[in-house]
Amino acid sequence: MRYVLGVDLGTSGTKTVLFDENGIAAASASREYPMDQPYNGWAEQDPDDWWRAARDTIREILDKSGVKAADICGLGISGQMHGLVMTDDAGAALRKAILWCDGRTGEECRELTERVGKERLIAISANPALTGFTAGKILWVQKHEPELWAQVRHVMLPKDYVRLKLTGVFASEMSDASGTNMLDVPNRRWSEEIAAALNLPMAYLPPLCESPDVAGRISAEAAKETGLLEGMPVAGGAADNMAGAIGTGVVRAGKAFTTIGTSGVVFAHSDTVQIDPAGRVHTFCAAVPGAYTVMSCTLAAGLSLKWFRDTFCQAEIQTADGMGTDPYVLMNEQAAQSPIGSNRLIFLPYLMGERSPLLDSDARGAFIGLSAIHQRRDLLRAVMEGVIFSQRQNLDILRGMHVVPETMLACGGGAKSPFWRQMMADVFGMPVATVQNTEGPALGAAILAGTAAGLYESVPAACEKMIRESEPLQPDQARGAAYEPFFEIYEKLYPQLKSAYAELAKL
Ligand code: XUL
Repeated sequence: MRYVLGVDLGTSGTKTVLFDENGIAAASASREYPMDQPYNGWAEQDPDDWWRAARDTIREILDKSGVKAADICGLGISGQMHGLVMTDDAGAALRKAILWCDGRTGEECRELTERVGKERLIAISANPALTGFTAGKILWVQKHEPELWAQVRHVMLPKDYVRLKLTGVFASEMSDASGTNMLDVPNRRWSEEIAAALNLPMAYLPPLCESPDVAGRISAEAAKETGLLEGMPVAGGAADNMAGAIGTGVVRAGKAFTTIGTSGVVFAHSDTVQIDPAGRVHTFCAAVPGAYTVMSCTLAAGLSLKWFRDTFCQAEIQTADGMGTDPYVLMNEQAAQSPIGSNRLIFLPYLMGERSPLLDSDARGAFIGLSAIHQRRDLLRAVMEGVIFSQRQNLDILRGMHVVPETMLACGGGAKSPFWRQMMADVFGMPVATVQNTEGPALGAAILAGTAAGLYESVPAACEKMIRESEPLQPDQARGAAYEPFFEIYEKLYPQLKSAYAELAKL
């Protein structure tokens, strides 16, 4: 039997999975790492934490699976998007990476828009200048840390740093590069015009390939550190959402998925470049060569529930520990005891500012309607409903672009909750299925690796062979109708709070 490795470099941790050639998981390992928030709205991670997590999980898998390194044909990485990693000439990281959910670059995004022109920037990069994206972060470092910038020789995305450590090769690929505001998305190449506007030498940008291409090979040094064989191919890999699309079989027009991970995403495949002129949702290159995606990003989806768990659910964490179960299971049971609408309580999930569809890094979370009758279960349910309302708002934009099919696939950690999935079906008003293999991005990365290694003829052919959907949960009309008035109020709240958020951000 031959095997492929998928490394999923996420925000809360890295999960590495070894799959056999039929897509069956043979072993997996994960490591968590911290996210630093030195100021309100900032988010950073140490790139070497990612590398240590990748290296240690690969080692652990080789040790515990008993699979011989010689039987592993390739490795692919799926990575959290948009983060800025800066290295010196030798490839050593010069500072912590600034992450996708960091909102410090509002001013720099306005500057980039002025330098390139709003319409021109959207025509080239398929997206407006966004605080989460990489380009604004480059301007921020140039302005606020000029001595550090003077040492920079390479800029790259999170997964490309881990690949550099594995192969010694500076490289990136189209799907992740599309989230930088620096890629000419329709033509799939770096934009010299945008690089010039950023005063960024083209040589600082890594060479590009497509996701299922061989981007490099395991170096002698990485072979020693991981136990993998020197020379094994490492694929271009993909941004986490695009790798997730491969891992759920969303590889042709008419297919879509929703993720509740740290962020929340509504994602549809498209064979052509389709752009929302208002920039409320993103257009990116897909990991399928030549194809595209339209997707939204709610910055704090699973993050909202994780925040609630860590801040208010110590009792559930302890009880779950004693019972050998997951605190989220207990939290779900409590939330289910509160009625639809959480006893007239609405949560706005803007804990890290908001991207789609608000594009406002000053926005912040809120419980609206809080009363002395509310109990923890109401707050919990309101958090879960707020996340789904945010997804629904984005889904409605994608529906307007005619890229949404009749059934939605649910994935990410949040999709493990049948309660949250049913809420999704009821609020979306559409059947919600899952895929049987829940490894999404890791499986997608492994499929890309297998294609790069010549194990599969193409990405869609591999998906056809490996991915099976479950029977969908059906929406309930009465429950859907009961959610609707709360969703309508949810939509009206942000416009009413916008100026208060802006004032608060200035204090
Ligand atoms: C997408 C986005 C997030 C990250 C999470 O635009 O910012 O989904 O990719 O890792």
